[in-house]
Amino acid sequence: MNDPWIAPSILAADFARLGDEVASVLEAGADIIHFDVMDNHYVPNLTVGPMVLSALRKFGIKSMMDVHLMVKPVDRLIGDFVEAGADMITFHPEASDHVDRSLSLIKSSGAKCGLVLNPATPLSVLDYTLEGLDMVLVMSINPGFGGQTFLPMTYQKIEAIRQRIDAVNPSIRLEVDGGVKIDNIGAIKAAGADTFVAGTAIFGADEYGAVISAMRQAID
Ligand code: DX5
Ligand code: ZN
Repeated sequence: MNDPWIAPSILAADFARLGDEVASVLEAGADIIHFDVMDNHYVPNLTVGPMVLSALRKFGIKSMMDVHLMVKPVDRLIGDFVEAGADMITFHPEASDHVDRSLSLIKSSGAKCGLVLNPATPLSVLDYTLEGLDMVLVMSINPGFGGQTFLPMTYQKIEAIRQRIDAVNPSIRLEVDGGVKIDNIGAIKAAGADTFVAGTAIFGADEYGAVISAMRQAID
C-alpha cells in the first residue's frame, strides 16, 4: 500500500488568512492540501476557484494540491486549475456527461486524475475507468459541507475498492473525505484507505500539529 497521506481540507480554514493557514498545516506535518471547489449547482454551497489556488502558489505554497471538483459541468475548469498549479484533480462522474473525456482532459493537461464516489454511487463507475486513475476518492458524507458525521457504511465500500485497486494497480490512491477524525482514522486505514482528508478535525483545533501527530500515530 502507498504511504499514508494526511490531507487537510481548506474548507475549514480561515479564508481571510488562507495563505498562512495552509503554510501552518504544512509546517504542522500535513502531506498534501485538499482544495474543495463548490459551485452552488452540483452541490448547494460555493467556495473558491483557480484564482485562489494560483494565489496560494504565488504566496509560496509548494506542496501537492489535491483539487476536489464539486462542479457541473467539469471540463471547462480543468485547464484553468492545472495552469493555476493543481497536481491532482478529482471530479464526480455524475457531474460529467463524458467521464472518459474529462479524465483524458485532466491527464493530457499534465495533472493526475481521480473519480469521486458519493455515498450512493455504485462501484460500477470504476468498471472501465479504474486502470487509468491515479486516485479513487470515497465520500464518507454527502458533499457540500464540512463538519458532518462519517457514514459507517463507508467502511465496507473502502474494503471493496481496496480489493479492486490491489487487483489492478496498488499504487492507485484510495482517499476518504468527510468526518475523518483522530478516533476513526485508524479504522478507516484498516479498511484500506491511504489518503485521509480532514477539515474540521484539523482546522477546528487550536494546535494543528497535535491533531496531525495524533492522526499519524493512529495510522502508523
Ligand atoms: C465536503 C468536502 C470535504 C470537507 C470535509 O464536501 O469535500 O473535503 O471539507 O470536512 P470535514 O473533515 O469537516 O468533514
Ligand atoms: Zn473534499
